[in-house]
Amino acid sequence: MPLTLAVEFIEPGVRLITLQRPQALNALTTQLLGELADELNAAQSDHNTHAVVITGSAKAFAAGADINEMAERNLVGILDDPRQASWQTLTRFSKPLIAAVNGFALGGGCELAMHADIIIAGEDARFGQPEINLGIMPGAGGTQRLLRAVGKSMAMQMVLTGEPISARQAQRSGLVSEVTQPEFTVERALHIAHSIATKAPLAVRLAKEALLKAMDTDLASGLRLERHAFTLLAGTRDRDEGIRAFQEKRRPAFTGE
Ligand code: CAA
Repeated sequence: MPLTLAVEFIEPGVRLITLQRPQALNALTTQLLGELADELNAAQSDHNTHAVVITGSAKAFAAGADINEMAERNLVGILDDPRQASWQTLTRFSKPLIAAVNGFALGGGCELAMHADIIIAGEDARFGQPEINLGIMPGAGGTQRLLRAVGKSMAMQMVLTGEPISARQAQRSGLVSEVTQPEFTVERALHIAHSIATKAPLAVRLAKEALLKAMDTDLASGLRLERHAFTLLAGTRDRDEGIRAFQEKRRPAFTGE
């Protein structure tokens, strides 16, 4: 079977993953999710990869789970479903992940984008959870992550009506951080990824962990985690290098130690 995604190594330290099932608007099959999980595992264990950008095509980031595949499979045995393992890999990915979204990001496609730490959207992007139209509901974080991102009223409206929102609405709601002209979405995401890739890797990793923790913990526990991470970083070579570079008016050369 042909590969459903392409990977490019963008120097320095950035991987670009492009979903490639244009015939089905990048609908997420078991194969595609499996290949994506494999790529993220490879990026996770590669010391030279410091950030990953994921994108689709001009027409669709991803139009959701592949409905034809869903028609053939019974989702009752969801715990045995290999797609669940792939989603778990996305959830566990600890390096910065940026989604560059043009066109449709629907259902599992919207949920995929929400696994990213940062979403950059083209002006024509549409974000939605249309599962309700199929007689089902989101099942890969679409009720939990969406509500945390856009708040109760907008999340309820999107999930219960199935109607998508525009890139501008998504930005106003806090789902995406920037809206670009569609032809610059990937470029802008790569630029941000490159900027992050130049920072101290341990600081980036712990900052991501602390920020994600803020979504599912109480303030006191979150502050404890932050203090712990801050203290850990105080003992790193990169912290010394960062401060020395500032004083010497030069760019820091971080090593991840
Ligand atoms: N699964 C399988 N095939 C899909 C698909 C999907 N999710 N979305 C689009 N396609 C296919 C279409 O069937 C069509 O194929 P053919 O040319 O062979 O007919 C091709 O992609 C192009 O799509 P359209 O002709 O429909 O394009 P359009 O511009 O007229 O409409 C669209 C675009 C509004 C996104 C429409 O395709 C659509 O509504 N797609 C389904 C979106 C959806 O319901 N997603 C949620 C799926 S459930 C889910 O995601 C649950 C989960 O993860 C847990």
